[in-house]
Amino acid sequence: MKTLREKFLEDGFLVFENFNTPDECEAVMRRGKELAEEFDYKGNASIFQTSEQTKTTDDYFLASGENISFFFEKDAFQADGELKTDIFHSLNKIGHALHDLDPVYNHFTRSPQMKQLAGELGLQDYLIIQSMHILKHARIGGVVDIHQDATFLYTEPESCIGFWYALEDATIENGCLWAKPGGHRTSLRSRFQRKSGGGTEFITMSEDPFIAEDMIPLEVKKGTCIVIDGMLPHYSLPNTSGKSRQAYAIHTIDKHKHYPKTNWLQRDLSSLSGF
Ligand code: FE2
Repeated sequence: MKTLREKFLEDGFLVFENFNTPDECEAVMRRGKELAEEFDYKGNASIFQTSEQTKTTDDYFLASGENISFFFEKDAFQADGELKTDIFHSLNKIGHALHDLDPVYNHFTRSPQMKQLAGELGLQDYLIIQSMHILKHARIGGVVDIHQDATFLYTEPESCIGFWYALEDATIENGCLWAKPGGHRTSLRSRFQRKSGGGTEFITMSEDPFIAEDMIPLEVKKGTCIVIDGMLPHYSLPNTSGKSRQAYAIHTIDKHKHYPKTNWLQRDLSSLSGF
């Protein structure tokens, strides 16, 4: 009989059904909607209403590691700068310090079942460095291209582990995750860094192509938790269905590994905590 840790090392991901109750999922979804509706996007319009990477947009993104920020779907705005639909349904995600700044997300993140799972996986020395509420609304929710989470949360040596919680059923139609069992035993393709002159850039680490063909859909029910190795290539398709696919995700790193100052997300590591 394999331990959880052995199975995780073998497959690069783990799936736990009924990890959170429907009520726990609802509480997070309710809070996300509240935050979105309280967000004064008109006062921040210049940040969002541009398709180019401007300094203001960059600064807003780079500061999001320390606060609760709002990110729009690519086609959320009309030509005249007004939203095509209401604010909540225009957003792609909310991040990246929800777990430290908002009691509802903190409660969900540091639940008794998470403390137990983290213990079983041996993550006593892991810090929760990032959280995101991914909205993936019906028909508007966009694609997330194949990537490795370690690209965004790089440590030396690599230690990133993600936890992805289905707040609603995730199906092929509404854009569930896709990955390949064992796919984490591969090279890191790139690192996403702060550029010295401002802004961000991807640095290529390996030219190996990602192979999507042998990935399988991880269709899961509401309340499921998927643990993802930071090296595991994964993606999700656009939501073409009439049902939203909300998810909450957090990322953790080993506090004993080196976290470069060039990583896009910079936090005061001494202020971070685990489960
Ligand atoms: Fe990811």
